[in-house]
Amino acid sequence: MQYLEHRGERIPLVGIGTYRLGEDTKSRRQEMQTFRSALLDHDMTLIDTAEMYADGISELFVGEAAAGFERSKLFIVDKILPHNAMRGQYYDSCARSLERLGTDYIDLYLLHWRGGVDLQDMVSNMQMLVNKGMIRRWGVSNFDTSDMRELFACSGGSECFCDQVLYNLASRGPEFSLIPWCRQNGVLVMAYSPLCQSAYDRMAVTGDERVAQIASRQGKTCESLMLSFVIRGRDIITVFKTSSEQHLAHNMQNVFGAISDEDLQALSQRFPSPERETPLEKI
Ligand SMILES: NC(=O)c1ccc[n+]([C@@H]2O[C@H](COP(=O)([O-])OP(=O)(O)OC[C@H]3O[C@@H](n4cnc5c(N)ncnc54)[C@H](OP(=O)(O)O)[C@@H]3O)[C@@H](O)[C@H]2O)c1
Repeated sequence: MQYLEHRGERIPLVGIGTYRLGEDTKSRRQEMQTFRSALLDHDMTLIDTAEMYADGISELFVGEAAAGFERSKLFIVDKILPHNAMRGQYYDSCARSLERLGTDYIDLYLLHWRGGVDLQDMVSNMQMLVNKGMIRRWGVSNFDTSDMRELFACSGGSECFCDQVLYNLASRGPEFSLIPWCRQNGVLVMAYSPLCQSAYDRMAVTGDERVAQIASRQGKTCESLMLSFVIRGRDIITVFKTSSEQHLAHNMQNVFGAISDEDLQALSQRFPSPERETPLEKI
């Protein structure tokens, strides 16, 4: 594993997502085996979950999978639903997540998306959870540049550690202004859906002959090339989801090998960086 340093934290560049993990009882065993392999064989100690995923079942899954691991070696990211934030349920939501996770703190707690949440109220409540020792850091998800500016105008808003957003080779919108803004203001960008989430969308990349050629030249699979692309600057981290050990191995194949400038240019010809501001894509 390779790591980055951000505000004194050492965080894996690649972590494991948990969207809908544990939901299907038939595939749960396979999912658990793959998840443990990610932790043990690939040091993917960055874990991303949310109270929303499978209605709390994914948090329970993480709690079970991570049992027996030294807690301080894990970096657990969890998210509160805007609906619960708007009802002032920060304490209760977080307490329920902690119980399901089987831990007494969350490393990074995010507002899942903005919704109608009052940002100053959110900052105060996140700070309250930090003061109570229930979370170590807080951040946001699906916040566009204008949302980040508004957040930073709040008292204490600049304590925001991270913005987790959709970013991958086929969806490069954040490169225009959000990623530069986050870099300038010390906010870590965490890319979700680095493999495009849907098989159909992913095929646009992995089925591309040029991409396959570049991946093969670099000793990568098309999927590990997609991940390498997202973490290429070593200042963005990412989380992908898989329930398959074979996919896990493919995704991690030479994932930390650099992509040459020439190949980056070739990728950009096929999947260009945006030339103008576009609204942040969300799933
Ligand atoms: N903050 C937010 O709003 C938000 C939104 C979406 C996601 N997230 C987080 O980000 C994580 C990752 O994003 P994601 O789950 O949306 O999408 P993703 O990681 O881009 O893609 C996951 C999908 O790709 C498949 N896959 C993985 N490796 C593959 C391979 N080598 N070959 C073929 N298929 C492969 C997986 O199926 P298999 O299981 O069969 O491998 C799964 O269906 C989530 O799990 C979640 O933790 C956050």
